[in-house]
Amino acid sequence: MKNFISVNDVADINALVQKAIAYKAHPLKDIALGTHKRIGLLFLNPSLRTRLSTQIAAANLGMEAIVFNMDKEGWKLELEDGAIMDGTTVEHIKDAAPILGSYFDILCVRTFPSLLNRDDDYNEVLLSRLIEYAGLPIVSLESATLHPLQSLTDIITITENFKEVRKPKIVLTWAPHIKPIPQCVSNSFAQWINAWGEADFTITHPEGYELGEQYTAGATITHNQQQALADADFVYVKNWSSYQDYGKVLTENPKWMLTNKHLSVTNHAKVMHCLPVRRNVELSDEILDGPQSLVSQQGANRVWAAQAVISELLKN
Ligand code: CP
Repeated sequence: MKNFISVNDVADINALVQKAIAYKAHPLKDIALGTHKRIGLLFLNPSLRTRLSTQIAAANLGMEAIVFNMDKEGWKLELEDGAIMDGTTVEHIKDAAPILGSYFDILCVRTFPSLLNRDDDYNEVLLSRLIEYAGLPIVSLESATLHPLQSLTDIITITENFKEVRKPKIVLTWAPHIKPIPQCVSNSFAQWINAWGEADFTITHPEGYELGEQYTAGATITHNQQQALADADFVYVKNWSSYQDYGKVLTENPKWMLTNKHLSVTNHAKVMHCLPVRRNVELSDEILDGPQSLVSQQGANRVWAAQAVISELLKN
């Protein structure tokens, strides 16, 4: 593995999952792997789980982690080649990236979409410029379009909670929200589950919330949530704004918020959400506080996903 930007950087998903599960059993078994090595964590928007779990994962591998809240403490970066920088941007990515590359052994970055211009967001300019100019392995801590550490965590959590020989039925369901939310967690979950190939996968959402086919191809897609939920083993709950009518909230229909009544048609489904979650808007208290919720286990598993990925990059 050279970078960790999407599932396409992973040669063997199950091997990476097993590596993470082994770290969960023995967190310090590779404490010497990262001795005298440094990992940079650049954040352009807030985080609880990603920031702390990646720091803990790096410490478990003996690395020093330095966090930089670039949006608040750094210079405003220019990304456009040939730009005449007489506006608000102060430093060109071509100048900043090699410096960052010289300070660290691995560089991680969290970006965020504007949700205003789909082409700009889906071109992932910052990530690709960092890969081009920084000269070291780059890890996405969530980008404009994908959240690979979250998706790896999700497959780890599903693997831990499903022991039958058959494939699990996994349903990704849209949930209401009060503001426009990126598609990245849902894109990424769909991309990873499809690439994994070990699930019967359905996506359900209201009309107008179709995700990009580059992520969803292979899944069953329906606007009928109750039909989708029938016999589900896992239900992944997530809001996203429209991809087609880019960044727009087309409905806040509360009927899409999952309750125990919705779950009655499932196969005692376990419920997942990446967090943070807006309680009683996206997902009901009765589910989040009930026995079918996996959200705490998912959050805790972020450490082992990050540790497996950093370890792979260090070994290379
Ligand atoms: N799930 C997730 O990425 O959480 P944070 O935004 O808190 O890092």
